[in-house]
Amino acid sequence: MRRSGRGPARTDASPTPAGLRDLVALARRARARAHAPYSRFKVGAALRAASGEIVTGCNIENATYGLTICAERTAVFKAVSEGMRRFDAIAVVVDSPHLAAPCGPCRQILWEFCGDVWVHMENLKGRSKTLRMRELLPLPFDERNL
Ligand code: THU
Repeated sequence: MRRSGRGPARTDASPTPAGLRDLVALARRARARAHAPYSRFKVGAALRAASGEIVTGCNIENATYGLTICAERTAVFKAVSEGMRRFDAIAVVVDSPHLAAPCGPCRQILWEFCGDVWVHMENLKGRSKTLRMRELLPLPFDERNL
């Protein structure tokens, strides 16, 4: 499925194991930079643009709690602010037996800017799962509704 209009494009091919290894390695490094003194739950993300460029993000918490930004949104906003508009995959790394699927607000933002990209979730022990955004957000609200 390719979205119409100015929406993001993505490639159909699933990410290669080597490509995922690179993304995960960068997401792990980004995770180490998380500012998570309140939850102590560090998250790292690495978002790959169609050009092959990779932009990372980590969660950045705040004493007011509500102003916390997730790793995924940090990566998306960094990339968009650098002028990138087409993406094909994002990796999200946590240190938990339960893999972290992007939260609801992150799914909405990922859909807006990245469309039906691959979402690779992995923990520090190497357990992983790869899904597409349309599986995580099957009935999205987007520009087509407006
Ligand atoms: N968090 C993320 O960065 N990404 C996710 O996918 C889930 C949650 C962050 C937000 C907060 O700093 C901490 O994890 C606990 O919720």
